Amino acid sequence: MKNIAIFASGSGSNFEAIAQACTNGTIPAQIVLLVCDQPGAYVIERAKKYHIRCLIASPKEYPSKTDFEQEIVRELNQLNVNLICLAGYMRIVSNTLLTAYSGRIINIHPSLLPAFKGAHAVEDAVAYGVKVYGITIHYVDETLDGGKIIAQEAFAYDGNDPAEVHKIGQKIEHQLYVQTIRELLIRN
Ligand code: GRF
Repeated sequence: MKNIAIFASGSGSNFEAIAQACTNGTIPAQIVLLVCDQPGAYVIERAKKYHIRCLIASPKEYPSKTDFEQEIVRELNQLNVNLICLAGYMRIVSNTLLTAYSGRIINIHPSLLPAFKGAHAVEDAVAYGVKVYGITIHYVDETLDGGKIIAQEAFAYDGNDPAEVHKIGQKIEHQLYVQTIRELLIRN
């Protein structure tokens, strides 16, 4: 059985999709850890429901970001984590984690990268008048929303409501993330 850790800062609908897929066997793995930097985030409630261990910690509580990430790496090592999935984790992962888990950290982003990086990808794309939107899953490197692309799915939308784009995109995210994690774990 492979072990997954999920890093999230918010609602955690992707976390839930992955947890469900692990429970019903679509993903041949278990989530052994949620790392969350926001004590009030709804994703923590979701993790409790699935009895998944949570590490709730923010870099502010540590002398440096390196110390913060060293603590996370210790937990990941103890739990024999094979794959780290960022799902709405609003922090840049830095060297300590990247070195320890090189090639084993992936992220989901609500645009067709390399277009529209950053925290407001959908809003920026709508403001730009984009007609073809999409979702990207990519390996994580030291740059914001950089790293080699693993999977993408596009959809057409000709309107100006970011909430609608988020809604369509999230449905795609849940399927694409589950399918991509499954394939990565089966292959490696
Ligand atoms: C998703 O839209 C993802 O693309 C982005 O953050 C959002 C997280 O949503 N990186 P949720 O917390 O999984 O619902």
